[in-house]
Amino acid sequence: MRLTETADVWWKNAVVYCLDIETYFDTDGDGRGDIRGLSQRIDHLAELGVTCLWLMPFYPTPDRDDGYDITDFYGVDPRLGTHGDLVELITLAQDRGIRVIADLVVNHTSDQHPWFKSARASRTSPYRDWYVWRDEPPANQHEGIVFPDQEDSLWEYDEEAGQYYLHQFYKHQPDLDIANPAVREEILKIIGFWLRLGLSGFRVDAVPFLLDTAGATDAANLADPHDYLRDLRAFLSRRDGQAVLLGEVNLSYKDTRTFFGDEDGDELNMCFDFIGMQKMYLSLARQDPAELVKALRERPAPPEEAQWGTFVRNHDELTLDKLTKDERQEVFDAFGPDEDMQLYGRGLRRRLPPMLGNDQARIKMVYSLLFSLPGTPVLFYGEEIGMGENLAAEGRNAVRTPMQWTTGPTGGFSTADPGDLAGPVVEGDLSPEHVNVAAQRKDPDSLLSWIKLLAQRYRECPELSWGECTILEHDTPSVVAHRSDYEDGTIIALHNFSAEPAEITLVVAGSGVGVRVADLLTGATSDVENDGTLRHQVGPYGCCWLRVLRAGDRYLV
Ligand code: NOJ
Repeated sequence: MRLTETADVWWKNAVVYCLDIETYFDTDGDGRGDIRGLSQRIDHLAELGVTCLWLMPFYPTPDRDDGYDITDFYGVDPRLGTHGDLVELITLAQDRGIRVIADLVVNHTSDQHPWFKSARASRTSPYRDWYVWRDEPPANQHEGIVFPDQEDSLWEYDEEAGQYYLHQFYKHQPDLDIANPAVREEILKIIGFWLRLGLSGFRVDAVPFLLDTAGATDAANLADPHDYLRDLRAFLSRRDGQAVLLGEVNLSYKDTRTFFGDEDGDELNMCFDFIGMQKMYLSLARQDPAELVKALRERPAPPEEAQWGTFVRNHDELTLDKLTKDERQEVFDAFGPDEDMQLYGRGLRRRLPPMLGNDQARIKMVYSLLFSLPGTPVLFYGEEIGMGENLAAEGRNAVRTPMQWTTGPTGGFSTADPGDLAGPVVEGDLSPEHVNVAAQRKDPDSLLSWIKLLAQRYRECPELSWGECTILEHDTPSVVAHRSDYEDGTIIALHNFSAEPAEITLVVAGSGVGVRVADLLTGATSDVENDGTLRHQVGPYGCCWLRVLRAGDRYLV
C-alpha cells in the first residue's frame, strides 16, 4: 500500500500548533489559562485545520523558565488543571482528528525537583549520580553559554553538596546524567506514562544537550549517546507505533541529519529546520530569496518516513545564531533595530507581523511559503491572526502574551483584571482591538481565513508533503519558484520577496498543448504556451500555488 494511503506516517503532512495552556484561555478568572479553557477552544484549532497540538510544559514547576524547569515529570501543574482535565482535552482533540503531543524536557530538572534536593543533600543519596558533579569546574566552563545575559558558567558550586554541578541552561536547571542507566530508564518510564494517558508523542527539548555527555565522569558508560536516542525511539514505537518524536536540534544541516538516525530513520521522526528559518529571514531582509534557495538546495533529505518541522516563529527568541555576524546585523537592521528588540546578541524577541510593518501581503506570502515548501508546518499560537509582541514583558516572554480572542482589555483571554494576567496583553496597533479571532473569523480576507485556506490546500495536496521538490531555475531574482511532483500531480509555487511586481517565465511541461495551470489559492486559471512555457505575473510580495492541468485531469481546483 502507498504510504500516503495510510494514516500511519501522519506527521509527514500534519499541521502542528504549539501553545502554552497558561496564556491560551482562562476559565476560572485567575488570570492564567487552564486546560479546561483550552478544551473549550479546541474547535478553533479544528476549524483552522490543526492536526497535531503541541503543548508546552504543563508540569509542576517553580516557573523560572516558563515551565521548562520541572519538579515532577509525572504531574500536572495544579494551577492549570488535573490529569482528568488533560485526559478530557486529549479525548476532545482526538475526536476532532487532532493528536496531542507535549514537551519532553529531560535534559535537566528544576533545582527544586525532589531528585535534585536529595542529590545535593548527600553524597550517598540514590539520586546523587543522576546529576553531573565535579570537585572543580573544567577549564571550558565559560564556553557555550546558552543564556549569556544571565549565566557566565556551565558549572555552579552548590554549598550543600560541596561540589559543582553541570547546568547547560540556567543554574536553576541542573543537567541530568544520561550516562547513568537509572536516568535513562526513568526517562523511558516518563514517556510510557504519558503515552498511556493518550499523548501521541513529544517535542523533545534541547536534544543535542541531552545527548551531550562530555561533562559526565561516567560518560564511558554510554560510548555513543545516539544509542540512547535509538533506544528511546524503539521504546516509543513499541509502546505506540504512531507516536512521534519532534526534536529541537539547532545545528548545521549535516549535524542535524544525524539526529534522524540511519537511512530508515531510527531516531527522531522530525527535526526542526532552524537553518531554513534563519535563511528565510535573511532573504526577507534582502528582498531576495537567494540565501533561502541555497539552504533548500543544501538541506539533506530526511529518511522517507521522517520529515523536517518548518516554522516561522516559536516561543523562544528568533535565533539568528547560524548566520554570520554581518548577516545577523542585516536582519537586526531590517527587523529589530532597537536594542530592546534583540536578545543575547543573537536573536529577536519579536513576532513576524510587526517585523514586516504589518504588511498583510508580505505576511501572507511568508505563510504561503511555510505551507508549500517541503516540511511539516509548525505554528505558534497567535500566528494565525497575526499577533504582535509586547516588549514590556521580560526577555522571551515578549512573544508569549495572552491569546487574543476578542476586543477588550484582556482580548477575551480572561475575566481577571488586565494587570493580573499570566502575561501582559499586546498593546498598540496589534492590540486585541485590532487583532482578534472573533473579527477575523468573519472576514474572508483576514490572515485567519488565509491560513485556514493554506492548511486545507496543503492537506489536499500530497505533492507538497510526499512529493519530490525541485527549486526551479529562472531569470526573476526576486521570486522563488519550486515544483513538487508526486505520481502524476505537479504543483508549482511562486513567491515574490520584493515589493515590486514580477514576471516570471518557466517551462512547466514538455509540450504545452492543452495544458493549463490553476492557482489553488484563488481558482484563477491561465494557459500554458504550446511549447510548454508559462509566463506568469506575481504581485508585490505575491504568491500562488499553480496546479498543472493536462487534458482529462480530475483534480479539484
Ligand atoms: C529550549 C526551550 O525551547 C526553551 O524555551 C528553554 O528555555 C530551554 N530549552 C531550556 O529548557
